[in-house]
Amino acid sequence: MDIILKRYKTERKELIHILHEVQKEYGYIPVESVSAISKYLRISESEIFGILTFYKAFTLEPRGKHHITICMGTACHIRGAPKILEEVQRQLGIDAGETTPDRMFSLETVNCLGCCAIGPVAVIDGNYYSNITTKKINSIIKEYKKIE
Ligand code: FES
Repeated sequence: MDIILKRYKTERKELIHILHEVQKEYGYIPVESVSAISKYLRISESEIFGILTFYKAFTLEPRGKHHITICMGTACHIRGAPKILEEVQRQLGIDAGETTPDRMFSLETVNCLGCCAIGPVAVIDGNYYSNITTKKINSIIKEYKKIE
């Protein structure tokens, strides 16, 4: 954690950058890191937790190696997102908001990814997949299962 902090000035404006780097490094924001950041930037832990819960990009829970986001916004919903979500949940054996016991996959839903015209949309590890069908999502997940 110290290695990450030393790359940044002890200025409040660095908070979001530090949080992004911690999440990139660990896959989530460990609670202990909040305390270290708080001391380093002299910002209260409660303020940092407030930011962490406000921005969906951050998570305090360990995520799987591969993170799947399914858009459930209106446009994607109309185009079949519920069936896509159902299929992913069936294939992974978890509900949205959960991580597989082997820590390979975690799943979440969002209300719009800002690319409604190409829905239904899924994002896996930052890669966008458009016009998803149940067949398409099945084969995409199979490919990710091969990536250790
Ligand atoms: S509703 Fe899915 S991208 Fe907007």
